[in-house]
Amino acid sequence: MTSDHDPYAQFEQWFADARASEPDVPEAMAVATAGVDGAPNVRMVLMKARGPGEGFVFYTNTESAKGTELTANPRAALLFHWKSLGRQVRIRGPVSQVSEAQADAYYDSRDRGSRIGAWASKQSRPLESRFALEKAVAAYAARYAVGRVPRPPYWTGFRVMPEAIEFWQHRDHRLHERRLFTRDGDGWTLELLYP
Ligand SMILES: Cc1cc2nc3c(=O)[nH]c(=O)nc-3n(C[C@H](O)[C@H](O)[C@H](O)COP(=O)(O)O)c2cc1C
Repeated sequence: MTSDHDPYAQFEQWFADARASEPDVPEAMAVATAGVDGAPNVRMVLMKARGPGEGFVFYTNTESAKGTELTANPRAALLFHWKSLGRQVRIRGPVSQVSEAQADAYYDSRDRGSRIGAWASKQSRPLESRFALEKAVAAYAARYAVGRVPRPPYWTGFRVMPEAIEFWQHRDHRLHERRLFTRDGDGWTLELLYP
């Protein structure tokens, strides 16, 4: 399919460009959530999987602020900004958790320190001191000194399944190009937007 019919095809082209030109982590994206009170919240995460059927996946702690917000209100918006290219990609859609098998496969691919860190961090909750975190890391490193480090039950992937994907390209005089793909049954409709 051409990139006029398939936003995933356009995303792959743009992501390849970003990999070639961004100095660091082109897979970094902002994820915006809102809890039951409707108040927005936003932070950066790393895209770890993407594609039709896959949507856009990141991994985190389900008990973190974003985790509890997504459990209460499973919708999110994602934003990539590739400054070196003058491009942004905006994505919106419902959110679900990846399968246990997919989460295990990704968790097992991470380095040992990150797997221990996932156990040691009560992400987004108050931390008494840096020393308390270091003690927790040491305790879990001792507990899982040999063999596989299991995946914590509260650590998994969230999948944003896009209903809308907008590609924004900087142009002179603020006459930027905006291409908005909207999910339409099994396909997508494309419209241009004023900048
Ligand atoms: C470039 C970048 C990438 C990040 N990637 C992740 C990630 O993949 N998962 C994650 O849980 N936090 C990641 N973080 C940290 C989050 O931005 C955030 O501090 C943390 O997840 C807690 O957010 P919350 O309190 O809103 O849940 C990243 C931060 C930066 C700056």
